[in-house]
Amino acid sequence: MSGEERRHPAAFPLDDRAIYDAYVAGRQSAALTVGVRVGLFDKLDQTPLDVQSIATEFDFSLRGARSLLVALEAMGVVNCKEDLYALSPETAAYAVHGQPGSLVSLIELEMDHFLSPAALLDALKKDDSTAYGDADPWEEHERDPEAAARFTAAMHSVSERPAAGFAEVAPLGDVERLLDVGGGSGALCLASARAHPDLTCTVWDLQVVCDLAKKYADEAGLSKQVQALAGDMWNEAFPTGYDAVLLSQIMHDWSHEQGSVLLDKAFACLPSGGRVLIHEKLVDEEGGPLANALVNLDMLVWTKGQQYTAGELEALLIAAGFADVQCEPSAGYWSVVSARKP
Ligand SMILES: C[S@@+](CC[C@H](N)C(=O)[O-])C[C@H]1O[C@@H](n2cnc3c(N)ncnc32)[C@H](O)[C@@H]1O
Repeated sequence: MSGEERRHPAAFPLDDRAIYDAYVAGRQSAALTVGVRVGLFDKLDQTPLDVQSIATEFDFSLRGARSLLVALEAMGVVNCKEDLYALSPETAAYAVHGQPGSLVSLIELEMDHFLSPAALLDALKKDDSTAYGDADPWEEHERDPEAAARFTAAMHSVSERPAAGFAEVAPLGDVERLLDVGGGSGALCLASARAHPDLTCTVWDLQVVCDLAKKYADEAGLSKQVQALAGDMWNEAFPTGYDAVLLSQIMHDWSHEQGSVLLDKAFACLPSGGRVLIHEKLVDEEGGPLANALVNLDMLVWTKGQQYTAGELEALLIAAGFADVQCEPSAGYWSVVSARKP
């Protein structure tokens, strides 16, 4: 092939864009995270600004500000009219501090725990959590309450909006007492309590996280309906006296074998007719949607787990003795898988 032919796109037998787009995708995450971290989106939420004002406000070079804004505009995160940059409606809803359900705490975790190719390679070889080096993440949270608070805030950020979808879709109508195993901030309990004023919920988590969950419940004005109880789901039986057990983003933290142990414990603590409710971002039989499939990589780095298909959860639930397995999409990428103890 001559140089002239090589320069002509028609001479390429294949279109490289799918692979190129995948290669370049990490820049989107970096641009979004920087926008959140410096407060660019908070500022643009108050008032649209031009490039020079943005550069001055954030102490960026003019070239830097231009590059960032061009990237963010192409991503659909900001738009530009008459030289003024403003937020898209999604950015205003999800990437501004202080908005209910905003994803900022999750996005900010990227700054300290960015999934670089080197970090991924390390995790692939180790086949165990590498987020805090060799330390077990949950033990690390017990040692370092600030790390626990950052992680729990990120979980709250990812769970707060889907929690409202969960509360709408989950069969909670006849439930009086809900046990939220590994409940974190209690985001799911808070939304469920709001939707069902007669429901009481218990966040059952490690002591360091329960201290945080109590604050979230206080701030939401729901501390009468949502309480926190310290415990250890591996070294203790699940507490009794509940007619439903919730596992939100818990199954995906552990192997299938460990997940089976948790479902056995849920089965043992429930009365006949009691329900188990699993809230997860499921992958379908083809491995999609992409966003849920990519969570597998986060799980690799942070946990011992992986994302599930509905069929895999159903098989584990049936093996644990549950019946009437139902799977309902709830909000965005989320689903609720429920089952009943016969
Ligand atoms: C991925 S977070 C899920 C939080 C919450 N369920 C949600 O969906 O937002 C996992 C939770 O499991 C808790 N956890 C980990 N090990 C635990 C243990 N041995 N006993 C109780 N909770 C535990 C963590 O502290 C954390 O809050």
